[in-house]
Amino acid sequence: MKLYVIVPLCALITLTQQAPSGDSCSCEFTNSERTFPHDKLSTVEDSASRCNTNITPQKTLELESLLLGLERRLPRLQEDVSALEREDDGELYGVTSLLVVENELKDIKELIARLSSITLEHQHLTNDTTTKLKDLEAEMQELETYDTMQVVNGKLENRRLRRDLDQCRNTVLPSTNSTEPPHGNCPHGQFRNITGPRMSTAGEYPGSYKYGAWGRDPKPEAGKESWHWLVMLTSGNKHSNYIRLYSSLSALVGGVSTPGNVQISPSNPTTNTIQGPNIVMYRGALYYNCYNQDEVCRFNLTSKTVTNIKLPKGTRYNSKGNFCHLEECYPFTDLDLATDESGIWVIYTTNQNFGNLVLSKLEDDEPELRLGQTWHTSVYKQGVTNTFMVCGVLYATRYIDKEREEIFYSFDTTTGVERFNLGIFIRKMYPNILSLNYSPVDQILHAYCDSYMVSYKVLFS
Ligand SMILES: *[C@@H]1O[C@H](CO)[C@@H](O)[C@H](O)[C@H]1NC(C)=O
Ligand SMILES: *[C@@H]1O[C@H](CO)[C@@H](O)[C@H](O)[C@H]1NC(C)=O
Ligand SMILES: *[C@@H]1O[C@H](CO)[C@@H](O)[C@H](O)[C@H]1NC(C)=O
Ligand SMILES: *[C@@H]1O[C@H](CO)[C@@H](O)[C@H](O)[C@H]1NC(C)=O
Repeated sequence: MKLYVIVPLCALITLTQQAPSGDSCSCEFTNSERTFPHDKLSTVEDSASRCNTNITPQKTLELESLLLGLERRLPRLQEDVSALEREDDGELYGVTSLLVVENELKDIKELIARLSSITLEHQHLTNDTTTKLKDLEAEMQELETYDTMQVVNGKLENRRLRRDLDQCRNTVLPSTNSTEPPHGNCPHGQFRNITGPRMSTAGEYPGSYKYGAWGRDPKPEAGKESWHWLVMLTSGNKHSNYIRLYSSLSALVGGVSTPGNVQISPSNPTTNTIQGPNIVMYRGALYYNCYNQDEVCRFNLTSKTVTNIKLPKGTRYNSKGNFCHLEECYPFTDLDLATDESGIWVIYTTNQNFGNLVLSKLEDDEPELRLGQTWHTSVYKQGVTNTFMVCGVLYATRYIDKEREEIFYSFDTTTGVERFNLGIFIRKMYPNILSLNYSPVDQILHAYCDSYMVSYKVLFS
């Protein structure tokens, strides 16, 4: 199968994508941008050096010597004229003296003529040079702005190229011929769109903790059906050792935390500290990436005990397999926990799967915690900003701009069909979505964005 896509990129770059039979990805680009006017620059350089040769020390030396000659001759002339006056007896002597003076005057006239021609020449040269220098200055300024734009354009182009590379990596692989939306085993129908934001709150600590997660337990214990939870990464955007509980959504919005905090361990960080923001609560337990481990931790809020499960060998952890967009990678987002109608999942990357997303079902048979079936996707994690599960289908988002995030990818665990072209947009209130999870109870997407808690409604058809 060969797939050619021309990406318009404001008509600056023509990017040709090719999908060869294997899994390699090549992007070739030709830059049709105006190139830097090197010839213009060299003309300017030539003019500048000509200016330099025109105004030589010799020119000034000539003028100086002429002036010096005049300076010496004028007193002599004066002397000769006075002598002539004294000796004017009407005789021959006086006539020769007069001739001397006449010659003298002739020489001086010549000197003055040369001097004035030189002065004029210098004036021309000065005027000419001044004009030329002004022109050169203008041209250099033009070239300078040109270069600044080049730099700016270059930066923009690089960004675009990087995005397109990421997209290329995430587009070449089997787009197949499935036009149907992913189905999974969904009681609600097919995932179509999302609306919102439906709710947004700064919570109790406005702007304090950029990284975190919040949500609602889809399988709560009796009496805790409307409880909401919040975890803020309180230490360097990296880890935390407690969960904050709220009796309802309005309590969370109003900032009234009862029953308050549940601590995992008094010290932070320690073995079972929460690392990274992609956390979920399920059946009264918090699931998260254990501190400094390639493991999922399950903290039982009732018994206050932690169970952990090691992920396959080669799993990237400790900020080696993060979610990214062009501006940044989100640190310690190696593991993403997710809930949906069918239970609990973990999404991660392995070296074996070249940094592409790997998805495993977590089987939480109490008291055991097992890694269930695993799927290998061909979506490259560095081009993905977050993932969530709905009805057994994995969805991945990517950063478009500060206002929009796109749900672009899906992987149906029932059929194994992957799609890279969903084109469902999330309208953002804050630029970065640091965690995103689906609540199968009310079909709400919970997003934690730059310290704010935001929710969206998933639409089915
Ligand atoms: C040089 O420029 C000055 C002022 O711009 C002008 O008055 C003068 O005539 C010019 N001289 C020549 C030789 O062009
Ligand atoms: C397209 O669909 C047909 C029928 O469902 C299937 O046999 C074929 O393999 C699909 N093509 C690709 C490229 O997956
Ligand atoms: C999804 O919803 C947005 C507005 O909420 C709308 O503009 C867009 O067209 C919808 N997309 C689809 C595929 O229905
Ligand atoms: C948590 O611990 C309580 C008390 O030991 C137990 O009844 C419950 O099943 C545990 N929950 C999970 C998810 O392990």
